[in-house]
Amino acid sequence: MTAALLSMTRPRRPRRADRADASRPAGGAGVSGFDVGAGSAREGGGMDNVLRYATDYHAPVLLAETVDLLVTDSAGLYVDGTLGGGGHSAALLDALGPDALVVGIDQDPQALARASERLAEAVGAGRFLAVEGNFGDLGALLRRAGLTGVVPSGVADRPAAGVLLDLGVSSHQIDAAERGFAFSADGPLDMRMGATGETAAELVARLPAAELADVIYAYGEERRSRGIARAIKATAPTTTGQLADAVRQSVPGKDEVKSLARVFQALRIAVNAEMEVLEAALPAALDALAPGGRLAVIAYHSLEDRRAKQFLKTGRFSGQVEKDVYGNPLTPWTAVTRRAVVADDAETALNPRARSARLRVAEKTAPPPSAEPGRHPGA
Ligand SMILES: C[S@@+](CC[C@H](N)C(=O)[O-])C[C@H]1O[C@@H](n2cnc3c(N)ncnc32)[C@H](O)[C@@H]1O
Repeated sequence: MTAALLSMTRPRRPRRADRADASRPAGGAGVSGFDVGAGSAREGGGMDNVLRYATDYHAPVLLAETVDLLVTDSAGLYVDGTLGGGGHSAALLDALGPDALVVGIDQDPQALARASERLAEAVGAGRFLAVEGNFGDLGALLRRAGLTGVVPSGVADRPAAGVLLDLGVSSHQIDAAERGFAFSADGPLDMRMGATGETAAELVARLPAAELADVIYAYGEERRSRGIARAIKATAPTTTGQLADAVRQSVPGKDEVKSLARVFQALRIAVNAEMEVLEAALPAALDALAPGGRLAVIAYHSLEDRRAKQFLKTGRFSGQVEKDVYGNPLTPWTAVTRRAVVADDAETALNPRARSARLRVAEKTAPPPSAEPGRHPGA
């Protein structure tokens, strides 16, 4: 894994993140389902933010809510583990003071290039650092960034005030047919968010039908997984169009779109090992946070939301709460959101992708004095 460090200098003066893109009418060609025609939705309070930070690359979801709930220290270090088009990072930079640092991580070199261009002013001011890598390696990426000596104070020496994970893929990744994520456009059956690893075509060729069915059932929650897996194996698809045709053959027309969405989601999760990576990233985020620092997770499907919910409540993925010798619950978190924050009608009218978003935020509690350094109860 490479850590691509863009130029870093000591913060000089307050800068605002570049908003040039944001002043453009949001949702131009290329933004999946982003309906700029929904005039009344623009009049809602939070809609100013949606329009201001949306680009033709991606429209960030739950933006005002995320920034409000994440920021506790205006001079702190914030890690945006899913940089994408840089919308959340841009809004964070605007909300933070001159001494704050935002580190934006993405495994997609295209996203890093695009967001770094957008945030060039903040890069120049030493307020933003782009790092290429997988957020599953969060701790190592931050340590490596600090070890370069490019960052004067050393990123690794500053525990984070906030970590954001806005999971899944960006609108641009879905829209770009050559990335192979969408069933609505024909392209190579790829689905990798990064530039390396096994493609979806290679995965379906390698897995026996029974294992492919398990993947489709586990990650797509698709009940017709066995029939669909058999049809896929018979076709040996190498394009998204061929995969979509194989799915269409094995489901009734009325269920077609839902089944296509489930199968494509399942393969994307498997190709990018999304569940394993999330289970590595959440404890790593806890470790990276200072006491009082906050972790915000935006999930788009129940599998990842369930993991985020359990970990942000108990510090474990089993959901079981560890107890001390007196039976008191031990958790490294204090809840900031008691239940998931969801987008309001105005945002979902403008950006249908926001409909499935679930934002959960928790604050890291100070470990008890007896705890070993670097260990957290329940982690
Ligand atoms: C939903 S988009 C984030 C959009 C971003 N918040 C914005 O406002 O533009 C998710 C991004 O996270 C990246 N991503 C997903 N999983 C990742 C992982 N495990 N490591 C690093 N980046 C990841 C994807 O490549 C994609 O660019």
